[in-house]
Amino acid sequence: MTIAEALELAQKHLADKANSQGEAFSLLESLLGKSKPELVLSRSKLLTKEQVKTLKTWLERRTAGEPLQHILAKAPFYGLELMVSPEVLIPRPETEVLVDRALQQLRKLAKPRVLDVGTGSGAIALAIKQECPSAEVWASDLSADALKIARENAKCLHLEVTFIHADLLTEPELADYARTVDVLLANLPYLPASDKAWLSSEVQHDPELALFSGEDGLELFYNLEKQAFSLLKKGSAGFFELDPRNVWQAYEACAHWSAREVFQDLVLRDRFLRLVR
Ligand SMILES: C[S@@+](CC[C@H](N)C(=O)[O-])C[C@H]1O[C@@H](n2cnc3c(N)ncnc32)[C@H](O)[C@@H]1O
Repeated sequence: MTIAEALELAQKHLADKANSQGEAFSLLESLLGKSKPELVLSRSKLLTKEQVKTLKTWLERRTAGEPLQHILAKAPFYGLELMVSPEVLIPRPETEVLVDRALQQLRKLAKPRVLDVGTGSGAIALAIKQECPSAEVWASDLSADALKIARENAKCLHLEVTFIHADLLTEPELADYARTVDVLLANLPYLPASDKAWLSSEVQHDPELALFSGEDGLELFYNLEKQAFSLLKKGSAGFFELDPRNVWQAYEACAHWSAREVFQDLVLRDRFLRLVR
């Protein structure tokens, strides 16, 4: 089978996906270690038997609903290529907006201190460190398995981030650090438990610990907000990603902060909350 035939086969299998051509190229790029232009230029080159076998297995997994990122074991985030596994949430493009907004604030400071709570693959913490190398960045997660992936990503990207295993800010060393930070970010689980019945087949592949947050989706946010309010220093800011369905409810509950703002994601849905201590 030639590269051109393999691309055609992949596109046919993935016909029901929104971006079947893009996905077909991603699979072939990963399988053959070639860029998209290289694939196009070597369309008549033959795949080995082993490569054809792997491609067919990948296409079966994808057709069965497994996310492309799990098949490729990687996901892009803020210009970084992150390793992902079923133990971590696949980083989403909307979270890049949260990073953007935090960076606007961080770039005004000489040596900012940053904390990413519920880091998963390390996406937010690593993007911040990459974009703002003078920052001291710590990141935490309740999942030891997620932290393993985050640490591995930091190592591969040569980015220095301190990782802590903790339930929100309850770990003493993390609480001490939180008292000194300029910016805290959190994309914690925010789906209401009732959403379990409606999950798309792709979201079903994300770990449950990364998705649900009590009956209304706000349980973890409220717990973190309380802890952050008592620990953060005056003038520091918290940036939170929330469910557009309840971000204004969270906003209403945070009138005791010095300033608060809801801002929008890439498709103009109100999704994020910024709180100033
Ligand atoms: C929605 S995922 C987000 C991951 C990552 N921040 C991102 O944006 O891709 C939420 C993360 O919060 C972690 N988490 C859940 N409950 C937690 C808790 N009580 N304390 C710290 N982390 C928690 C999960 O393990 C998961 O990695």
